[in-house]
Amino acid sequence: MADAPNDQARGLRKMSSPTRPVKVIAVASGKGGVGKTNITVNLGVALASQGKQVLLLDADLGLANIDVMLGLHPQYNLFHVIDGSKSLSDIIVEGPAGLKIIPAASGVQKMAELSPAEHAGMIQAFSEMEQHLDVLLIDSAAGISDSVISFTRAAQEIIVVVCDEPASITDAYALIKLLSREYNVEHFHVIANMTRNIQEGRELFDKIAMVCERFLDVSLDFMGIVPFDEDLRRAVKKQRSVVEYLPQSKSAAAFTHLAKKVEHWPVIKQPRGHLEFFVERLIEASLETA
Ligand SMILES: Nc1ncnc2c1ncn2[C@@H]1O[C@H](COP(=O)(O)OP(=O)(O)O)[C@@H](O)[C@H]1O
Ligand SMILES: [Mg+2]
Repeated sequence: MADAPNDQARGLRKMSSPTRPVKVIAVASGKGGVGKTNITVNLGVALASQGKQVLLLDADLGLANIDVMLGLHPQYNLFHVIDGSKSLSDIIVEGPAGLKIIPAASGVQKMAELSPAEHAGMIQAFSEMEQHLDVLLIDSAAGISDSVISFTRAAQEIIVVVCDEPASITDAYALIKLLSREYNVEHFHVIANMTRNIQEGRELFDKIAMVCERFLDVSLDFMGIVPFDEDLRRAVKKQRSVVEYLPQSKSAAAFTHLAKKVEHWPVIKQPRGHLEFFVERLIEASLETA
């Protein structure tokens, strides 16, 4: 079974035209409510404002979806692509600064249960995407379910969001431990969210990095902080991205800074760096993890 989507994908790849590489970044945290969706959306808007072509993939079916956060009302989602009734361009909705969004779908969390034909259909849909992308940002669910592990394993870069609460720290550690011990993921970026200042964020990072580097074979990179910001909450209530709604706020400044860091991450050249290869890796990861 596991070979079927690969064979089909290989065939499809030959048919599709070459695309430029894309940075695929998964945002994860272990614990829920630490700011993953806000960070995914605002990092996306900041990157888009800096001229990047950005696509967000909502891989969390939780209550605060990306579309809710941005006041969007998508008609279709990835499920319609998987069942073959819509193309990717039919389901993608546009957010601030030209940001593109793939709305959440139940199929996304049941990737391993799809048939080989559905897997191949998905790979084809992504390989046919004509618009060039620079960054694909994935908002993953809370916890360390198979689906979260598959998305993070398939991505090129993983951002772990933490805040200064014991449960956030232990859950982030559990996520990093699982990815490192079971799947040999070695590198993680960390964003400290809702801290009062950079020192507090750095101390929080040091706490996590110390245990991770002591007990696991991993390296952690401190990306920076997003400060606790009432303006961000105001933007959430208005269903707007704080980067676009309150660009003078301190959280917007932090997102702009973090986006610049992402821009400097190297792009993985052929062949792992392409969108359809990400989907292929995602399917492979789902089949292995399930
Ligand atoms: N930097 C911040 N400052 C203030 N509030 C924040 C910040 N980041 C997140 N929040 C609040 O935390 C809540 C949960 O954030 P969310 O992005 O939905 O978390 P997750 O996706 O991890 O569950 C949001 O509704 C928002 O009000
Ligand atoms: Mg969320």
